[in-house]
Amino acid sequence: MNRWTRFGVAVVALAVVFGVGASTQQPADIQKAVDAAYAKYKGLQEGKNADYIPALAKVDANLFGIAVVTADGKAYTAGDLKTEVSIQSISKVFTAAQVIQEQGLESIEKQIGVDATGARFNSIIAVEAVKTVVGAGSPEMNPLVNPGAISATSMVKGATSDEVWKKIIGFHNDFAGRQLTVLQDVYKSESDTNQRNQAIGALMLAYGYIKSNWQQAVDLYTRQCSIGVNTKDLATMAATLAFGGKNPVTGKQVMDAAKVPGVLAIMATAGLYDDSGKWLYHTGLPAKSGVGGGIIAVSPGKFGIAVIAPPLDDAGNSVKAQKAIADISNALGGNPYAGGRTF
Ligand code: DON
Repeated sequence: MNRWTRFGVAVVALAVVFGVGASTQQPADIQKAVDAAYAKYKGLQEGKNADYIPALAKVDANLFGIAVVTADGKAYTAGDLKTEVSIQSISKVFTAAQVIQEQGLESIEKQIGVDATGARFNSIIAVEAVKTVVGAGSPEMNPLVNPGAISATSMVKGATSDEVWKKIIGFHNDFAGRQLTVLQDVYKSESDTNQRNQAIGALMLAYGYIKSNWQQAVDLYTRQCSIGVNTKDLATMAATLAFGGKNPVTGKQVMDAAKVPGVLAIMATAGLYDDSGKWLYHTGLPAKSGVGGGIIAVSPGKFGIAVIAPPLDDAGNSVKAQKAIADISNALGGNPYAGGRTF
């Protein structure tokens, strides 16, 4: 063995020891993992479409699409990539990210909080519990449950509702790398039936989380939840978070890299609501679900992944999406806590 051969062997050995091999997955391996998950879960009949927003009950329950977007902007896909569903709670990530981008990491931490509530996404008891234990307006909420999300929307600066909306949709567009539009049937359906969120909005004003005009905040929040996205849009949005805020498809730096870890942290603590701990235990991935059936997950520096499949479990998270993402990520060494190992 000459000097260079010995050097090569040493480099390969180190790569194996430190699991570097897993971070350089070949395109064929990624596609194989995506195809395997699609085949495995396509026929799964578990869970139920959300129906408290009537328009969501009408969405095809068999819709199933998977996309993984890597650093080079390439998408590895299976199933339905075209059909748009409403983004729902996944939008909470990007509006919180927008506030963080505009006003700094401490803005959300001070006005809303970054701790998990451990309760359902639209729990009013969670708001009351915080008030009872630590006082009104205490920053012990988080922007990924409805009370915190409506408050985060109220923090986006703008002189008029229109101005705020343009900023919100513009930020979502930058993450997706294309112009998104609102699904009007979903927006109307949710606006007609969102009395609970209106109550939450009023409560958040009463307790000092929202400074003024809670009605505008609830309306804009409802509109942002009705943005239409397909599987590839969501995976590109996740990938932009995976690569330090730079959209790997368009090349645009959408938010400061230094602010992205804060966004990923709130996804890790509260992205799947009261099941966030279980999810993290099995995947290690910051993620966010929406009652439209989408889930995004981020493997920092490796890939963004998204699955759309409308039937949800009791916590409000897509059943198929959780299973498919966990399988694919584990096959690709996506769990940050596993140091790139596959299993
Ligand atoms: O406010 C709501 O209830 C819906 N617009 C969003 C809830 C949601 O997506 C919860 N996610 N799993």
